[in-house]
Amino acid sequence: MQFTVSQAPINEFQGQALILFVPSEGELPKATAVINEQLSGFIAQLQQNNDMKGKVGDTLVIPQASGPRLILVGMGKNPMSGKDFCKAINAAAKTLKASAANDAAIDLSDIEIEGFDSEWAHKQLGQSFQDALYHFDECKSKKDESPAKIEGLTVIAENTAEIDLKFGQALAKGMAFAKKLGDMPPNVVTPSYLADEADKLATLSNNLTTKILDEDQMEELGMGSFLSVAKGSIEPGKIICMEYMAGKAGDAPHVLVGKGITFDTGGISLKPGAGMDEMKYDMCGAASVLGTMLAIIELELPINFVGVVAAAENMPSGHASKPGDIVTAMNGTTIEILNTDAEGRLVLCDALSYTIDTYKPASIVDIATLTGACMAALGRVNSGLFSTDEDLVNELLSASNTSRDTVWRLPLEDEYQELLDSNFADIANIGGPLAGATTAACFLSRFTEGQKWAHLDIAGTAWNSGGKAKGATGRPVPLLVNYLANKI
Ligand code: BES
Ligand code: MN
Ligand code: ZN
Repeated sequence: MQFTVSQAPINEFQGQALILFVPSEGELPKATAVINEQLSGFIAQLQQNNDMKGKVGDTLVIPQASGPRLILVGMGKNPMSGKDFCKAINAAAKTLKASAANDAAIDLSDIEIEGFDSEWAHKQLGQSFQDALYHFDECKSKKDESPAKIEGLTVIAENTAEIDLKFGQALAKGMAFAKKLGDMPPNVVTPSYLADEADKLATLSNNLTTKILDEDQMEELGMGSFLSVAKGSIEPGKIICMEYMAGKAGDAPHVLVGKGITFDTGGISLKPGAGMDEMKYDMCGAASVLGTMLAIIELELPINFVGVVAAAENMPSGHASKPGDIVTAMNGTTIEILNTDAEGRLVLCDALSYTIDTYKPASIVDIATLTGACMAALGRVNSGLFSTDEDLVNELLSASNTSRDTVWRLPLEDEYQELLDSNFADIANIGGPLAGATTAACFLSRFTEGQKWAHLDIAGTAWNSGGKAKGATGRPVPLLVNYLANKI
């Protein structure tokens, strides 16, 4: 879709719809007031008659005999909170998409948002409208012939808004890529498929090169932990490294490492059958790294950024690991595999060791659908954040606030480490029934000592579960893009 910035007043717009904010109390914002006046107080009348109460996220489409449709959007109180603003523009985008109009105009100049400026508002606007267009019909034999669409949005603002709209749009394209990879079926999205997608990204930018480790190379590097997962499947495992070097030569890169289990059956510690299809989403950490890379390429951010994906399929088979097996990770740590379903940490630990050795990173953040325990603790609202580096925690919390892609910090104290003690190896791969999200983070911390490192557990936030709602969310691409954009 095309964003256009214009300074012409909203009542001169020649397109098919006007998006107008209506408050629950107080004066109408300027653009709404202008149209209200032109229509002899019609919008105020709708408020009075309770046809439009202005509740945040409520919408009302009003066709006119001549002229553009009015799409009234409830905004609650003016000034609005950032959360309410996002809710309102998401509703506006969805309503426009579902309406007969293909384009619209909007004017945010009189909308005040507590704690956020108009740059932020325009970024969110670009993101929200682009994101509303996401549609997955890749695997339907009959495609929708006239899919709901939004062709253009005219934003009445200073010309500088264009760069903010572009930012939001690039971010949403990254989200769409991540969502698509998540939503695609697991017989298509294999580790090799993810590697091919990374190679395709590299054709989009001269700054990006990929290096893909195959199992022979991993054998040579001593990645016994990663390979213990991959060997259960006929699909070969891959560690995919995407090096985007648009920053100063010699500057240490910031690295994101994503869990890319393209299907998690649990292995020999087999998961129950109900809902197991959703374990195709166990590569959403990887998808968020690929999606973030796409957004960074679009934005041409001048940074050094490496995206690493640890991709494997977790299957039960005659070649699969058994509970009780002991394997040796790349850094020499021996691991007793007490549960083959705790496979994410097994692939990530070797990817982390490799990342540290190869890139000497300025910072590392791993992103993983790692534990059901994190989902139990935080639901679908917040991703779990684990780190002992206060600066990195603050950077991620700040990006969480600006992106509204929220995280909640959970503990990672030394006291939890002993839960990983093993009778027979250096550590066990599970920590028992207590504090499962933290013990998973503790496991990873054994491989990141001395590093500026954080772990994001996105088990609850990467996709919506069950029924009609089932689908990838694109999170935490907004968080990650904002985090990296703040590096310049
Ligand atoms: N991919 C799962 C975690 C998961 C489960 C994410 C459900 C989202 C929804 C992970 O590999 C896993 O199976 N974790 C186990 C760990 C346990 C065996 C210590 C879990 O959370 O049950
Ligand atoms: Mn698992
Ligand atoms: Zn898993």
